[in-house]
Amino acid sequence: MDKFLIKGGKALHGKVAISGAKNSALPVMAAALLTKERITLHNIPKVRDLITMSKLLAFMGAKVSITDIPASDYVIQAVTLSDAVAPYELVKTMRASILTLGPLMARMGVARVSLPGGCAIGARPVDLHLAALEKMGAEITTDHGYIQAKVPNEGRLKGANITFEKITVTGTENILMAAVLAEGETALNNAAREPEVTDLVDMLRKMGAQIEGDCSSTLRIRGVEKLHGTEHTVIPDRIEAGTFLIAGAITDGDLTLTNCAPDHLASIIAKLEQTGVRIETIDKTTLRVQGAKKLIAADVTTEEYPGFATDMQAQYMALATQAQGASVITETIFENRYLHASEMLRMGANITVDGRRAVVRGPSPLTGTPVIASDLRASASLVLAGLVAEGETVIDRVYHIDRGYEDIVKKLRGVGAQIVRLHIKD
Ligand code: EPZ
Repeated sequence: MDKFLIKGGKALHGKVAISGAKNSALPVMAAALLTKERITLHNIPKVRDLITMSKLLAFMGAKVSITDIPASDYVIQAVTLSDAVAPYELVKTMRASILTLGPLMARMGVARVSLPGGCAIGARPVDLHLAALEKMGAEITTDHGYIQAKVPNEGRLKGANITFEKITVTGTENILMAAVLAEGETALNNAAREPEVTDLVDMLRKMGAQIEGDCSSTLRIRGVEKLHGTEHTVIPDRIEAGTFLIAGAITDGDLTLTNCAPDHLASIIAKLEQTGVRIETIDKTTLRVQGAKKLIAADVTTEEYPGFATDMQAQYMALATQAQGASVITETIFENRYLHASEMLRMGANITVDGRRAVVRGPSPLTGTPVIASDLRASASLVLAGLVAEGETVIDRVYHIDRGYEDIVKKLRGVGAQIVRLHIKD
């Protein structure tokens, strides 16, 4: 298991190119199952989750052509699907495998998908995905750890009026993909409005789907008989961009982020500005961040988009350790997303966690020490803490970060960070 070794204390300066969004690439790849025709995708980030998704699609019988592994251009063609199964071996490494359930049900009327189970950040059930499919006429059972779903009498799913009890990002995406080939009209109320959902809507529309209401919390889908091939470029990764904004801010550096989407970062930018960080929108795809000599504490509550993303909470906590005063962080999306706090405590941070609330008192001088990454964004937060800590920080289990950040070591080194990957033989 590889580790990262970071020598902290260097201000970061220069340019960083932001990659495509992992959480957009995952659903648009799954959407390729909806047609026999060829789907060409660009700007796919070179991260492990996308390689897992291509393995999953290939397992089902789709042809996934990648010029190089990892690559940013994928060509996927699912002329026939031999197996409507997402096996445990792949699902256990990536929960987003559940995104194949909707497209499989739409195209084949049958699917067998391993239940994802919980993960480090919470229980993460998929009950809302299943209840919505049932409303569309699917018969669903779960046994031996698998979801077994089918449309009775080899028919098609039927359009339905669905209201999600809770906003769910992959739930919205899954049911959207199920509805585009269903018979009749589907309304998805209380749908997620994340830019990644809108990106999927854009791509599905290019494939011939009839969808209205993107960017709003009600999506209306009129099912069509079939969809066709298309070409699509995924949106920039707003969480990678947000992570680099904090890298610039926490090291009191000066970074220019290119290929990003400033519009998708409004709540993150607003919060960082409240702490004294200077952020300038240079143009539609470029941001500049400059640190502040003195950061000021600011409270944050995670919310669904357009609110402050839960996927930025851990990185914000790293910044809060360096801010003057008490920052109250409230996590409303996941019940157990503070595992990084105990690692930051070992680095010298002053953090108290009580249920969904964490209070960070700063500024605390951090010192390097061995720490363990517990999930993707927690790993990113420990990298950020390491960049500002005195001495050496060694981060274990960095396979978590490889799931979602393309070339993070190379990108950070490119702007002056002292970080290396240690290849440790198991
Ligand atoms: C997506 O996960 C993202 N993953 C997550 O990114 C992100 O943290 C999350 O949305 C919230 O923004 C992908 O897009 C692949 P949810 P998802 O369903 O869709 C509860 C990262 O680091 N819920 O919106 O799985 C759930 O437990 C990752 O890149 C149910 O109760 O999240 C949670 O409390 C991690 N029943 C809340 O809803 C359901 O059936 C929101 O979860 C579904 C969800």
